[in-house]
Amino acid sequence: MPLGLEIPHLDLSRLDEGEFTGVYRAWLDHQVLLFRGQQLTDLDLITFSRRFGNLDWAPVQETGRRFVEGHPEIYVVSNVIENGTPIGSLGAGEAVWHTDMSYLERPPKASILYALEVPPAGGNTYFCDMYGAYESLPESLRRRIAGLHLKHDATYNSGGYVRQGVAATDDPVNSPGVYHPLVCTHPETGRRALYLGRRRNGFIGGLPLAESEALLDELWSYVEREEITWAHRWQAGDVVLWDNRATMHRRDAFDPGMRRVLHRTQIQGETAPRA
Ligand code: OGA
Ligand code: MN
Repeated sequence: MPLGLEIPHLDLSRLDEGEFTGVYRAWLDHQVLLFRGQQLTDLDLITFSRRFGNLDWAPVQETGRRFVEGHPEIYVVSNVIENGTPIGSLGAGEAVWHTDMSYLERPPKASILYALEVPPAGGNTYFCDMYGAYESLPESLRRRIAGLHLKHDATYNSGGYVRQGVAATDDPVNSPGVYHPLVCTHPETGRRALYLGRRRNGFIGGLPLAESEALLDELWSYVEREEITWAHRWQAGDVVLWDNRATMHRRDAFDPGMRRVLHRTQIQGETAPRA
């Protein structure tokens, strides 16, 4: 089934059980869901998110601030600066292709972004179907990567900012991070997905660095293709929910003079990524 689906006419603050079951099924089938015209408080967003599982606490913002007062589950994605301090993370630059927090042993299984304020242009977000990426690999390449593990770098976030408490490094061999199988089996759908995390400082265990770099470049060439991506142009009130185990995403830069404010929750993964 195609990547990305808009589900119209649902108010996420008052879904009944039957509606939620349908949403859950559609999320597994399409990996990314869009709901427009929502009017949610932070508590509504948290309550909806909790129907998918336990929530992670938001990662530390780039300023060192932890989270929205009273709501440790909410991560603010924003370029807005108030009293000299950014209210959120990721600035106004590009956020490069990535899977959220794949440098953890147990990355979140889903993320949900709710748009409060968006710029008139720019800041679009793109999703890539990693089942499709795996299925598009030539058989010989699939055989070559079977059983390999990739280190997911913990140094930089997708905006290129160094994470709290980490020393900046561009050495893929020695950068901090955790290894996951390059090809993972989705715990709920049973489908195989290519699991790349992000390109910067990626390192395939057991290979000489030059070989790891060449193989990663080859794999990444299968990702950035239109046939397996879905583009989203934001409107205020949009909620986008994605399966973090079977997709990657990236965001365009936008005019830093324009305001963009989104609130995000993350649903804990119940299992570590498995081959
Ligand atoms: C995120 C993210 C992209 C965006 O919140 O995980 O990558 O569109 N955001 O701001
Ligand atoms: Mn992200």
